[in-house]
Amino acid sequence: MTNEQLCQEALQAMKKAYAPYSGYKVGAALLLADGKVYTGCNIENSSFTPTICAERTAFFKAVSERKEESLPEFVRIAVCGGEGGKITGAFPPCGVCRQVMSEFCTDSFEILMITSADPVQYETCLLPDLLPFRFSPDYLENKG
Ligand code: THU
Repeated sequence: MTNEQLCQEALQAMKKAYAPYSGYKVGAALLLADGKVYTGCNIENSSFTPTICAERTAFFKAVSERKEESLPEFVRIAVCGGEGGKITGAFPPCGVCRQVMSEFCTDSFEILMITSADPVQYETCLLPDLLPFRFSPDYLENKG
């Protein structure tokens, strides 16, 4: 799975967004070490706070649908978003999604922020760039 293909998956996933309140459609495609890809979109709610972001949809699908008891190894995520699904630049992961990444990912986890759909272009960074001094399960004695 090339970075370009992962970005295409995120762009396709964005089309499934349910965003009648903000009008901003977001898509994500999460690559696992075994090659599997889980996609996600944002799903809004009339009560607003139950809204879930595209990135967390992808992570929660990957965790809830895993076959092994152990957690999968996460390699990278591609993310895109924009008003009405039009990409005009990067749509960076929110703080809550960064914290969810911190729960499941190592410092080498890569984030591809799509800046253009056609041609596909993206900026990359690593999790510690997005969330320095991050809180993770390492800080708890009972790591589950
Ligand atoms: N959104 C995401 O899906 N991911 C993010 O990381 C940032 C925000 C969604 C939530 C909401 O449906 C819309 O974008 C506008 O905030």
